[in-house]
Amino acid sequence: MIDIKTEGLTADSLSLAYYEGDAVTYAVNHVSLSLPKFGFVGIMGPSGSGKSSLLYLLSGLKVPTEGGVYLDGVPYHRMAERQRVRLRRERFGFVFQQPFLFSYLTAFENALIGAPDDDHRARRHAVELFNRLGITQYRERYPHHLSGGERQRVCIARAMLNNPSVIFADEPTAALDHATGHHVMDILIGYRDRGLVIVVTHDPEMLAGSDVIYRLRDGELEED
Ligand SMILES: Nc1ncnc2c1ncn2[C@@H]1O[C@H](COP(=O)(O)OP(=O)(O)OP(=O)(O)O)[C@@H](O)[C@H]1O
Ligand SMILES: [Mg+2]
Repeated sequence: MIDIKTEGLTADSLSLAYYEGDAVTYAVNHVSLSLPKFGFVGIMGPSGSGKSSLLYLLSGLKVPTEGGVYLDGVPYHRMAERQRVRLRRERFGFVFQQPFLFSYLTAFENALIGAPDDDHRARRHAVELFNRLGITQYRERYPHHLSGGERQRVCIARAMLNNPSVIFADEPTAALDHATGHHVMDILIGYRDRGLVIVVTHDPEMLAGSDVIYRLRDGELEED
C-alpha cells in the first residue's frame, strides 16, 4: 500500500485509459509509486510504454481516469484547476519531449518567459544557467537559428529558472551528443539537493547517478 500522506509526490493506483469504440488502451495502468521531496528519479521503458503519459499525470497536465496524485499529501483532484495551474507555474519545471519555444522570442527571452520583465534576480539566474549549459553565445538567437540540442538546453534553462520543487524532464538529452548529454545530466543530478528531478530516457547510461529507476512496460510498472 502507498502512504499518500508522506512528503513528496505520490501516485496511487494511477491509470490513464483511452477508449476507442469497444477497445481500451491503458497508457498508464494502475501505477503506484512514492517519490521523495528531494532526489533524482529515472523512468525507462520502450516507446509507447507510457512514460510521457505518466509524467503528464504526475504533473497534473493530464487527469487520470482512475487513481490519484498527491503532492505532500494534497490530492490534485481536490484542487481547483486554477490552483493546479499555479502549482505548475510556481513549483514545477518542465522539459517536454518536443522542445517548445516561441519562434518570435530570442533564446534568452524564451528562458525568461515565466519571469516578470523587471525581475533582475531571474535574469542573473538565466545568465548563470546559460553559462552552465554552454549556450551563452546563443542568447540573442531565435529558435529557428538554433540546433535541436541548443533548443533543448534553452528549455532546460527555462525549466530550472524558477528553482522549482519538481523538474519533469522528458528525454532531455535526446537531441544531445554523448558528452553534452552527460554534462546536462550532471546539471540535473546536481539539482537533487534542491528538489525532485524526474527524468524519462531511453538511455540507461544517462541514469547512472539516479537514486531509483522505474521501468514501464505497456503502462505497467515492472518490478525490479
Ligand atoms: N490520445 C490518445 N488516444 C489513444 N491512445 C493514446 C493517446 N495518447 C497516447 N496514447 C497511447 O498511450 C500509450 C503511451 O504513450 P506515451 O506517449 O505515454 O508513451 P512513451 O513511453 O512516452 O513513448 P515514447 O518513448 O515513444 O515517447 C501509447 O500506446 C500511445 O499510443
Ligand atoms: Mg514519450
